[in-house]
Parts: sequence; structure tokens; C-alpha cells
Amino acid sequence: MEAQQKSEPRIPLPMPFGWFGVCYADELPEKGVKALEYFGSHIALFRGEDGRARALDAHCVHMGAHLGVGGEVIGNTLACPFHAWQYDDDGKCVHIPYASKIPAAAQEPCLKSWPCAEVNRMIWIWYHPESTPPQWAPPVYAECNDQNWSDFETYDWMIKTHPQEMAENSVDAAHFRYVHKAADYPSDWTSSYDGPLRHAWLEMKMETPKGSVTGRIENGNDGPGQAWTRFSGICDTFLLASITPVQRELVHVRFAFTQPKSDVDGPRGGVAKAFVQEIVRQLNEDIPIWENKKYLARMRLCDGDGPIMDIRRWFSQFLIDGAP
Ligand code: FES
Ligand SMILES: [Fe+2]
Repeated sequence: MEAQQKSEPRIPLPMPFGWFGVCYADELPEKGVKALEYFGSHIALFRGEDGRARALDAHCVHMGAHLGVGGEVIGNTLACPFHAWQYDDDGKCVHIPYASKIPAAAQEPCLKSWPCAEVNRMIWIWYHPESTPPQWAPPVYAECNDQNWSDFETYDWMIKTHPQEMAENSVDAAHFRYVHKAADYPSDWTSSYDGPLRHAWLEMKMETPKGSVTGRIENGNDGPGQAWTRFSGICDTFLLASITPVQRELVHVRFAFTQPKSDVDGPRGGVAKAFVQEIVRQLNEDIPIWENKKYLARMRLCDGDGPIMDIRRWFSQFLIDGAP
């Protein structure tokens, strides 16, 4: 008798719930419409005439056209490209230009409405497998809202992994030597955990041509989808990272860097650029590991590995068993 080999998922974790970046604010102008594919769903994102971003399930209940492909913003509603049914924020049909009556079922919210937030020059959508409303607000970072800091320099990747694998990687001390060939890796982080927020920081002496300088690195995760790193002392840099599930084992990663304009445009511009390139290089080096490794529910860790289990425990709050 032939045994049926069922292929197991490489990463048997559900998509986590939280806020996830879906586009930069300037990619959605007033009355702009975008088709998105995240969280295993098709979503139409649009900006009303009042300037606010909104997101609805993409497929019109009338005959199934995609509202994000050719849809038109009228006031603060989104009109379907097929027969012009108009939907409001709640996903209710509020107008059919060629009908005298809206079908009763479409007068109720008939399209899922996704909570949106716009902070740090980015638009964020709240995903929860049971559609529970947002449980925290995405934090605001001063650097992303300061005229004296540069426009974002952006990078993005589609990576076959899960946000938890990336979070664990950030404290995986030994991989910095073996994957990134770092001569040394600072391991004496101080960390704090506060509900969905995680914060870690350290100070270290760094040698520069002008002598030894004390640099500070801080990083954090605000839920599973938003991570940030703040480098100060040598080349001030703020990195905003968003990690957004497309499907269970596929994430869209965005890195947005900002630095003081006086550094970027001044004599230190070369250092500022090199700094960003180094961080991007490291991400590229991680990809083949993440795309091929298997998630182990039970790892065999040693004392030099870093606080990976702390991250795993913290991350578990965002995973709901049995979610799609
Ligand atoms: S399919 Fe959308 S209005 Fe007809
Ligand atoms: Fe890495």
C-alpha cells in the first residue's frame, strides 16, 4: 500500500494580526485608487476628497468587478468601473446612478471595510483574521515627520517567509558573523516589552577618523508588521521597515530610510549613503536563508544565540490558532 505523503507547510504559522504598511502616502494622491493584494485578500485602497485613505474588499457585489482597477473616487465614495455602483467607507452601496432603488442586501455593509491609518508617511491597514477592530494605534516617529530629515530612500522585496522569522532574525546574534561576515556583533542589548511594543537599545564605542565616538542603536517592533531602527552618534539614520503578509508564507518588505538633510547634502553624504547600502546588503544576504529554512517549533539553542525565545514569546500574542 502506498503511503500518502502530505506536504507539510514549511512555516506552519498563521498570518499575524496587526497594522501593516500597504503603500507610501505619496503613492496615493487625492482621489487616487490602488489595487492591493495582501492578507490573502484583494483590496481596493482609495483616498477620498477629504484626504482620508480607505480600504474595501475589492470585488463589487453586483457582478464582481475589481473596484481598485479603474474605480473612480466620487466625493468620499468609490464607484465601480463596471456599472458605477458607489460604495462608502462602511462598504455599503449608497448610489446606483441608473437604478431607482438599491437592492436591500447592498444597503447594508456588503463589502468588508479595512481599518486604515496614515502615519510616518505611510498608509497602514489593520488585519485580523476574525476582523477584530484595531487594538493599538501605530506609533508616530519624529524623524518621519520632520522637515529637516530627508525624503525616504526606499527599497522593497517580496520574500517567501513569515514576519516572525524576520523578527527572530533581528536578535540572532551568531548569524551576523556567519551570514553578514560582521567582525563583531553587539550583544548586550537592553530590551523592554510592553504589549504589542518591543524596544531594545545599546550604546557602544565606535572608532572613526576623528577618534572614538559613542554611538547608540535603538530598535523596536510595533506589532508584527512595523519595525524601526534608529542609529545615532555617527551617522544619524532612521529606518522604518514594514513587513506585510501577502499570503501565509510570502511577505512584502519595505525599507524606508531617512537622514538629516544636513548630512545627506553635506560633506558626510558619502558616509550616509554607505550606511544605507550596508543595511540593504545585509537584508539581501538574509533572503536565501529565510526562503529555504524550515520553521522549527522546537529549536536546539545554545548560549551564544541571543534572546530568540523572548521574541518568539512576544510574537505569539499576534498568532491566532486556526486562522486561515
Ligand atoms: S460589477 Fe460593480 S457595478 Fe456592476
Ligand atoms: Fe540578518
